[in-house]
Amino acid sequence: MERINQTVTAEEIKRQQFFTEEISRLPQKPESFFVVTYGCQMNAHDSEKLAGMLAEMGIREATRREDADFVIFNTCCIRENAERKALGNITWLREIRKKNPRLIIAVCGCMIQEPGMAEKILKQYRFINLAFGTSNLHKFPELFYRTLNSNCSTVVVEDRDVVPEGLPIIRARKEFAYITVMYGCNNFCSYCIVPFVRGRERSRNPGMILKEAESLLHSGVQEIMLLGQNVNSYGKDLEKPFSFASLLKELDRMEIPRIRFMTSHPKDLSDELIETMAGSTHILPQFHLPVQSGSDAILKKMNRKYTRMQYIDRVRKLREAIPGIGLSTDIIVGFPGETEDDFEATMSLVEQVRFDSAFTFIYSPRVGTAAASMDGRIDPLTASERIQKLILLQEQLQKETMKRFIGQREEILVEGLSRRSDLEVSGKGLHGISVTMPGNEDDIGKIRSCRITGLKNNTLTAEKV
Ligand code: SAH
Ligand code: SF4
Ligand code: F3S
Repeated sequence: MERINQTVTAEEIKRQQFFTEEISRLPQKPESFFVVTYGCQMNAHDSEKLAGMLAEMGIREATRREDADFVIFNTCCIRENAERKALGNITWLREIRKKNPRLIIAVCGCMIQEPGMAEKILKQYRFINLAFGTSNLHKFPELFYRTLNSNCSTVVVEDRDVVPEGLPIIRARKEFAYITVMYGCNNFCSYCIVPFVRGRERSRNPGMILKEAESLLHSGVQEIMLLGQNVNSYGKDLEKPFSFASLLKELDRMEIPRIRFMTSHPKDLSDELIETMAGSTHILPQFHLPVQSGSDAILKKMNRKYTRMQYIDRVRKLREAIPGIGLSTDIIVGFPGETEDDFEATMSLVEQVRFDSAFTFIYSPRVGTAAASMDGRIDPLTASERIQKLILLQEQLQKETMKRFIGQREEILVEGLSRRSDLEVSGKGLHGISVTMPGNEDDIGKIRSCRITGLKNNTLTAEKV
């Protein structure tokens, strides 16, 4: 296990270390744990930190959640269905508890950070033992210690913006690693709950990030993904401001084979960043640039602070500087007040830009956000018709755009055996697109060269070279 040696909250980490050791000696501690993760990469990475802390307590990871006697739900609340999914699964655990009375259940993550939610959940789901928010993750050992030593449930949700450092991490994959560069978001897009549940923007110290990257390099990492809700704001809040482009330049010098990052807000995508990418050796030619809508009126209501033309201009600049770059986006349909014309504007933008992939969502009202009280709710049937139209268009276009890779050489970082066959492996290519090629278990975790031969569904197929 790696430990990022660092000390923004050294005292606190020491304190948590004390509880970790206490728990490791407790006779009533669970034998095994399982973390169920919902939501985005931030949550996935938080789960890796939970796993790291639990391992230090001498609790092993179970392979199936049915077998674990401690289950943690790391929740997401970005849309209503994300919440519903988590709550549904928590209810299911009640049955498991009947069979295993020792079972301890914790709920954490973004959903718990919603105002009043933790209390509400504990009232409705009395069998939950512990609930804590994203801002308390680093205090997990202490909270867990309290839970193990009492019969009541523990709820802790603070509204403090912290930059936790020095937490142990057990990464899901050895060759691929997430590195958080900043926490929180200041943008308050009118539909979005993230600023409410993840707090204000705060950047990690560049020295700490570089140190973490260096230790990963020594342990053989092949690819890192830098995480932040809006990476282009990185460093603006530091005592000595340090731009995201400068951070990338430093990391690029380090000989980590592959570097990716997400997410970029179009309003903050600087020329400096584009030039840095173009001049770099290890930053991959891939960009996730959420557009959300193609209509200026809707973009305005969304508080996105750019126009359709400005977005298209950023894409042009990216493509000029990095020819063939893989481009993905996020799109919301059915935002309050979205007219047929607004929706057609989104369709025409998709047609014009030609994304390599698009994550499409039906607008979901979130309590406390500005859009939740806007007039002009779109009825679910219309929203669902619109998203289907959009998905169909994107699928058709995607087939065309992906053809540009056929015949080209690619390099993939092999993630595992392909789902379809044991004689094939799959992984992500340089442009962020999934590729399947002939291979076996020995290839897993390694970068392999191939030539793209065709496409099947949304993945590319390739032959070895
Ligand atoms: N910070 C990132 C990702 C935020 S969440 C960014 O700014 O791009 C990922 C995506 O979820 C968003 O890009 C948006 O498309 C979608 N999303 C966020 N809130 C939503 C809501 N209330 N309803 C539907 N989709 C939403
Ligand atoms: Fe949400 Fe907007 Fe922040 Fe992204 S930039 S996390 S969409 S508020
Ligand atoms: Fe991510 Fe969901 Fe939280 S998208 S930041 S886990 S609300």
